[in-house]
Amino acid sequence: MILTVTMNPSIDIAYQLDELRIDHAVRAKETLRTPGGKGLNVTRVLHTLHEDVCAAGLIGGNNGGFIKDRLKEAGIRFAFTEIKGETRCCIALLHEGKQTEVLEPGPEADASEYREFLKQFYTLSKDSACITISGSLPAGIPDHCYADLISAAAINGVPVVLDCSGNALKKALAADHKPYAIKPNTDELAELLGRQVTKDTSSLKAALLSPLFDGIHWIIVSLGKDGCFAKHDNTFYQVRVPQIHAVSPVGSGDSMVAGIASALARNMNDEGLLKHANTLGMLNAMQKQTGCVNLKDYDALYQLIEIRKA
Ligand SMILES: Nc1ncnc2c1ncn2[C@@H]1O[C@H](COP(=O)(O)OP(=O)(O)OP(=O)(O)O)[C@@H](O)[C@H]1O
Ligand SMILES: [Mg+2]
Repeated sequence: MILTVTMNPSIDIAYQLDELRIDHAVRAKETLRTPGGKGLNVTRVLHTLHEDVCAAGLIGGNNGGFIKDRLKEAGIRFAFTEIKGETRCCIALLHEGKQTEVLEPGPEADASEYREFLKQFYTLSKDSACITISGSLPAGIPDHCYADLISAAAINGVPVVLDCSGNALKKALAADHKPYAIKPNTDELAELLGRQVTKDTSSLKAALLSPLFDGIHWIIVSLGKDGCFAKHDNTFYQVRVPQIHAVSPVGSGDSMVAGIASALARNMNDEGLLKHANTLGMLNAMQKQTGCVNLKDYDALYQLIEIRKA
């Protein structure tokens, strides 16, 4: 089984508007509500790939109930830890080809809820071939949370794919037990290193040689339409993807994380992992919905990816 962790899930609400007029009431033409949070995007893509996936994390209130109902309808397994607070909503206003977002901070979890989650996570990790951890932490959860989860997974020898930013990422990289793989984009990489990183091979190579990344087997820097730049142990790869008609690339990184996890769970070789992950990123970018891939174009796109050692 692949376990996905979403500590701060949300109901993602998308309102389709003709125009957004500040200080005016606007009527939505269409409303879409879906389970959201980066880890649930990863979950959805893994489910589409027919992987045996289970979603974990914190959930609460009526909004939490809505998310569980939708996952049940989709046939997606979950093992969330219930909290007293209400799971958040994130609102996207889609207007004039633009997207304006309102992100709620989410509930505050307490120490006993965190302890309960750690216990459940440890038990679930025993049955996992791979674990993905994505997104931000809610208030009340310490920023060493992901470092804690990675060391718990290490007891059972389970590789972790980590996709987060800020202090949670810094703490996870500084801990004794390392994530097996990380998937920053160039902004996240620059924030981590405290300096600019360009898409240039020499800049990316220098960045990935930073001692910050010692002990991490796979570092996959996603570059949007330019594919990705990766380091597996001591080998660097430049991956070029074909030009596609991108509709909404939001969640392409999450789809890539799903691909990395499924490749690790299936022991794919380097070429297979990189092509699988980039194909899923592209397929997500071709859809309007976040964390949604249509596998009908999988083979055609896969064949067009070019990989060379860098
Ligand atoms: N416009 C595009 N054309 C082709 N491939 C794309 C495009 N956008 C994304 N991809 C594919 O998806 C992968 C991940 O995209 P990106 O670098 O945008 O991730 P991200 O910034 O982490 O996104 P998010 O955090 O919203 O999920 C890329 O490495 C690439 O393979
Ligand atoms: Mg991302």
